[in-house]
Amino acid sequence: MREKIESLLEEIKTFKAESKDQAEEFRLQLLSKKGKISVLFDEFRTVPNELKKEIGQRLNELRAHAQEKLDILKASFEDREDSPSDLTDLTLPAEPFIPGTHHPLSIIRDEIIDIFSRIGFTVADGPEIEDDWHNFSALNFPKDHPARDMQDTFFISDEIALRTHTSSVQVRLMETTTPPLRSIMPGTVYRNEAISARAHCFFHQVEGLYIDKDVSFADLKQTMLYFAQEMFGKQTQIRLRPSYFPFTEPSAEMDISCTICGGKGCNICKHTGWVEILGCGMVDPNVLENCKIDPLIYSGFAFGMGIERVAMLRYQVNDLRLFSENDVRFLAQFRSAI
Ligand code: DAH
Repeated sequence: MREKIESLLEEIKTFKAESKDQAEEFRLQLLSKKGKISVLFDEFRTVPNELKKEIGQRLNELRAHAQEKLDILKASFEDREDSPSDLTDLTLPAEPFIPGTHHPLSIIRDEIIDIFSRIGFTVADGPEIEDDWHNFSALNFPKDHPARDMQDTFFISDEIALRTHTSSVQVRLMETTTPPLRSIMPGTVYRNEAISARAHCFFHQVEGLYIDKDVSFADLKQTMLYFAQEMFGKQTQIRLRPSYFPFTEPSAEMDISCTICGGKGCNICKHTGWVEILGCGMVDPNVLENCKIDPLIYSGFAFGMGIERVAMLRYQVNDLRLFSENDVRFLAQFRSAI
C-alpha cells in the first residue's frame, strides 16, 4: 500500500497536461469514482489496524495533492482561453468604425451661419428663458395685443416665459450695441402648440438683423435673394408677399420657387410653384426707439426663419417630429452631408 501511494505521488508530481482534455483525463484516472486513488481508499479496509492511522493520513495527503494539481492545471487552461495573445487573430479584418453624424438641424444651422458670415454677419446669442420686455413688449406687442395669441408659450411667471422666437435676441443686441450692427441669431424657441407633423412645442430659428444709416427694403430683398440662392441653388427665385409682424413695418413673408418641381407645381408646393420660407421686414421705428436707437438716423431690416422648415425643404422631410425623435434610422441618412 505504501509503495502504491508513493508511486502515485510521483506520478502526480511529474504529470504534464498539454490541453484541457488531458487535464480531464488526469481527473478521470486519479480522482474519479473508479480512479486509482478511489481504488486505494477501497483497499484501505484491508490495512491492518495498527497501520490505519499512518496509511490513512498518507492517503488523504495523496488525494489533496491530486486535487491541487488538477486545480492548477484547470486554471492554467482557463487563463489561456481568456488571454488575447492566444485568441487574437491579427490577420482578421478590423471591425468597421462607424462615425457618428451631425444632426440635420445642426448641418442646416451651420450652413445658414456660413452663408451669412460670407457677407459680414456675426453670430449673437441670447437666453431661452426670457422676460416679457425682450420677447414681446420691446418688439411692439402691447400687453393685450392679439398678436400675442399667435405665440402662446410656457410661462414661468407673469413676466418670465420660454422665448417664442429668436426676435428677443434682436432687442438684446440693439440695447447693447451701437449701430452699425449686422448679426444672425440662431437658437431654440418654444410655443404652446399641439405636436403634429407640422408643429412642435419647441423648434429652432435663425433671426437676422442689419441696422445702419440708409438701409432700405432693396438691401433686404437682395440679401434674401442671396441667401435663397446659396441655400437652395442658383436657379432659386424669391417673391415677397405683404404680411404683418408687430416689430417690422412694412412686413413681408418670403416664398422661394419650389425646390422640388422648380416652380411647375407639385404636392410639396400645393401646385402653386412657391413655398414659404421666412418672415422679414424693415425694423419698426418704435422698436428702434425702445432699444434707444434713433430712427431718424438709423434704419434696418430683420428676418426670421425656422431651421426645421429649411431642413424639410432641403432634405424633403415631411414630418417635423422626425427631427426630435432621435431615431438613428433617420439620423444616419445625413452621414454623407457632413
Ligand atoms: N419672429 C417671427 C416668428 O417667429 C419671425 C420673424 C418675422 C422674424 C419677421 C423677423 C421678422 O425678424 O422681421 O414668427
